[in-house]
Amino acid sequence: MDYGTMENVRTEVRDSILFVTVDRPKVLNALNAQTIEELGRVFDVARGDSEVKVVILTGGGEKAFVAGADINELATMTPLKGKKVAEKGQRVFSKIEELGKPVIAAINGFALGGGCELALACHIRIASEKAQLGLPEVSLGIIRGYGGTQRLARLVGKGKALELILTADRIGALDAEKVGLVNKVVAPDQLLSAAEEMAKKIASRSPVAVSAAIEATHFGLEMPLEEGQLLESTLFGLLCATEDMKEGMTAFLEKRPPAFPGR
Ligand code: COA
Repeated sequence: MDYGTMENVRTEVRDSILFVTVDRPKVLNALNAQTIEELGRVFDVARGDSEVKVVILTGGGEKAFVAGADINELATMTPLKGKKVAEKGQRVFSKIEELGKPVIAAINGFALGGGCELALACHIRIASEKAQLGLPEVSLGIIRGYGGTQRLARLVGKGKALELILTADRIGALDAEKVGLVNKVVAPDQLLSAAEEMAKKIASRSPVAVSAAIEATHFGLEMPLEEGQLLESTLFGLLCATEDMKEGMTAFLEKRPPAFPGR
């Protein structure tokens, strides 16, 4: 599918994986309005791109994944504009979380503020040893507005989230792994290959089952247990009607690897 030519975001599809790179290295890939717009467009296209089974999101250049929202733009914000900008960012980041396909953040350096939030909106986070993460906004007189206060607390728990948010401290990749903020830490030169290896493994599974698993986990977490279980059993039942289910079971019984049609 055509992702078009963009100013600040690069895309490439290879082996069923869409590589998305936020690429403004001069400002450490800071998210200005244009970049948020372009990310939104990319994930709108990716949703309908049948060639894409998994997305890997990373930052261009050596130093940063994304060093936050663009402070040059934030500095001129008025209250009503600020609310609109935050709502727009929230909508775009929710497109990532609710893409229906797994998105892996390959965190190659600074993931601060909006960059940390961008990683939080992904389903899985793999970090380079030199990555640093944090939400430094209270040191700028603001708080995060693209879902960070919400997703961070859901991922690492309220106490640790508040410690990170209130101190504005940056933490290294290994500390981030200890608190569950990143899934795994690898050497900088292994980052993309580690993300790709995980993406390929997921891409070999049933796409409809992968999508349902994300849906059950993501939406289920926001529901009382009983409703979450109802969602789970409904999705389970639905999957029993798919060609992927037939293929998965038949392949197991025939002792061969499955070839999922994704239907
Ligand atoms: N918005 C706009 N520009 C940014 C930016 C941001 N969030 N983060 C970095 N930049 C720019 C810097 O202003 C600098 O531009 P310049 O070369 O024109 O001076 C360039 O990117 C390189 O950053 P620099 O600060 O020189 O690199 P460093 O290695 O000394 O420090 C950081 C790296 C990430 C620690 C530092 O840039 C930083 O604290 N950035 C802001 C992080 C933040 O608060 N994010 C949340 C924003 S809401």
